[in-house]
Formats: sequence, C-alpha cells, structure tokens
Amino acid sequence: MGFFSNLFKRKVVNALGIDIGSSSIKIVQLKKKGDKAILETYGELSLGPYGGASVGQSVNLSTEKLVQAMNDLLTEKEVALTTRTCGLAIPFKASLLSVVETPEIEEEEMDNMVKMEARKYIPVPISEVTLDWSIIPRKDTERKPLIKGEESIKTVDILLVAIHNNIIDQYKEISERTSLDPKFFEIEVFASMRSVLEGIKGPIMILDMGASTTKLYIIDRGLVYNSHIINRGSQDITANIARTLNVSLEDAEIAKRSIGMNKTKDGIDLSESVSLVAGSIFSEANRFLFDFQKRNKQNIKSIFLIGGGSALKGFRNLAAENFKVEVISGNPFENVEVPAFLENILKETGPEFTVATGSALRCLQEI
Ligand SMILES: Nc1ncnc2c1ncn2[C@@H]1O[C@H](COP(=O)(O)OP(=O)(O)OP(=O)(O)O)[C@@H](O)[C@H]1O
Ligand SMILES: [Mg+2]
Repeated sequence: MGFFSNLFKRKVVNALGIDIGSSSIKIVQLKKKGDKAILETYGELSLGPYGGASVGQSVNLSTEKLVQAMNDLLTEKEVALTTRTCGLAIPFKASLLSVVETPEIEEEEMDNMVKMEARKYIPVPISEVTLDWSIIPRKDTERKPLIKGEESIKTVDILLVAIHNNIIDQYKEISERTSLDPKFFEIEVFASMRSVLEGIKGPIMILDMGASTTKLYIIDRGLVYNSHIINRGSQDITANIARTLNVSLEDAEIAKRSIGMNKTKDGIDLSESVSLVAGSIFSEANRFLFDFQKRNKQNIKSIFLIGGGSALKGFRNLAAENFKVEVISGNPFENVEVPAFLENILKETGPEFTVATGSALRCLQEI
C-alpha cells in the first residue's frame, strides 16, 4: 500500500524568497504545480519601528534586531508560512559587479585567471569577498580578436561578481537563529530580472525605487551591463509631504500611500511634493540612461519600474512624462498563478515583492 500511495500522492513542493530591504522584510511563498508556480502566501514587515523610526523609513539595524524582526514575520499567523526552505537576496550595495575582458582559455583555467584579474577590479582585499563569475555571450558580429604581436587572441567578456563576506556571514547568522534553511544567496538584481524580465529583449533599464535609495540597472541578454545608485528614494517624498502639510512622518506616509498623485475630495493635492522628489530622481536616471546610450551606441527600449516607491498612485504616468522611453510597471507575478481574490491588491503592492518573488522562483527550481 505504501508503494502506491507514494506513487500517486504528489509531494507538495514549496519555497520562500526573502528580501531584507532597508525599510522592510518581504517574504513570498510559492508552490510548484507541474511547471507552474503558484502564489501561496506573502508578507511584509516594516523595519522602521525596530530602529526607532516610522513605517516606510529605512533603518540600519543590528543583527540582533534583524533576527527579532525576521522571527516576528516568520511566525506571523496571518502570513502562515509553511516552509523554511528559502532563497535569500543580498542587497546590491553589498556587491561589486564588473565586466572584464580576458583571453579565451579552458574553463578549468578560467577560474584561476578570473581570480587574478579580479584583484585589479575589486577595490577591497580578495580575502574579504566571495567571488563568482560567468561568461557573457557575445553576438557573433561583435567577436573582436585582440592583436598581440603577430597572433590574434580570441577574448571573452566575463561578468565578475563579488559579495562582501561580512554580509554573507551576517545572513548565515540570521538564518541559523531563525531556523531558515537557505539554499542560496543571490544579489537582488538577479532576482528582479527573473521575476519581471522573462522573455524580454534588451537593452532595458530597471528602476528600483526603495525607501532611501533608487537603484538603476541596465540589462541586456540576461546580464547587468551597468548600474547606479541614487541616494534618494520614497522616504524623501514622505519627508517633503510632512514639511508641506506640516504633519508627522507617520501621517505623511499614510497620505502618500492613500492619495499619491490623485487629488482628494477635500482638496488635498500632494502632486507637487511628489513631483519635486521624483523629478530629481528621474533626471538623474535620464542622465545615466543617456550616458549608456552614447557610450554604447545602443538605445534603451524600455524602463521597468519596481520597488515600493513605484507603487505610488500615478507613479507610472509621472515617470512616463519624464522619460522619452516606454515605461512599464514591473509585474513580479507575471509568470505566477495568483489566487483570484488577491489579484487586485497585488496590482498595487506587487512592485515591492519583485526581489522576493524572484528568489522564490529560483528556490522552487532548485529543490
Ligand atoms: N502604495 C505605496 N505608495 C507610495 N509609496 C509606497 C507604497 N508602498 C510602499 N511605498 C514606499 O516604498 C518604500 C519602500 O520600498 P521597498 O520596500 O522597495 O524598499 P526597500 O526594499 O526596503 O529599500 P532598499 O531596496 O532601498 O533597501 C517606502 O518608503 C514606502 O513608503
Ligand atoms: Mg529593495
């Protein structure tokens, strides 16, 4: 009997994706059904209150506080997570990405070569980072032999990824102390690419607007070609609203989320407070985008908006007015089956869960 029941009873496979952002922790739980991923549950916990700040503000927490917050979210009854198997996203700022050109050699030798080359590109001692690399496929027309003396040497481009060991150690400690079972750590941009860019031809730009920073990535053929961090984010909009309306940050946060670029019946209009901050972020993003286009003689096809900041009402339209390129609201659940009753709410809050969903998707594939 045992034989048959094992044969016919499908094992439930589920996995978590976890994103420890600077303003909140996001968790998404997916279930595998055939080739499909189904959203089972998701949750978010604001970190501000753990560091004496309000909801929506970014804070720098000790490992101790992060463990406490993670445990609170993992045991939250309403979220009702049923697994601890997970993929953990690492903040982009804890990583270094560079594209390095090296002669084409055997894959086994490549590892040593990359480590040696890395010393030139990584501005911290190699012993302080964990290195990873992958070969960037070239379009055939791009094949450029390097002339060295008489012979021409074929070269390849390598994407070099370094993660600071101290963040890996910190994430391992958090996992151990919260009974999480991480299958991998990955830099957040790779998770975002997986959830919103499947099947998209580049080059495109991702604009991830968080609480204190806005991250920009230029992506083509599945690779990150360029990146930039703007030191302004959605909490600067909140601060601007608080000043203009002369209210607390807590009240400004509520107003920002509920009103956004709309106008209320009693005449509250936050559009100027929002536009002032968003406009300065968009113009810096525009400069970054133009610079890439000029240097690479390539046009960016579209801009994908992700991150909680882009969940603001009317944000996509505002961005579309500021960029000359098509602007798309990234939908991390594009390739995930979502229960009908969640569809509407996820249209609004979806962008915040881009990173967590991406890591959950990979974790599902790997278990
Ligand atoms: N519906 C909404 N309307 C407007 N702003 C929102 C909305 N939802 C969230 N935000 C804002 O988004 C910000 C948080 O975004 P997100 O969760 O992507 O940041 P984070 O991941 O913590 O930050 P980072 O990636 O920079 O570490 C907060 O400042 C919050 O106020
Ligand atoms: Mg984030």
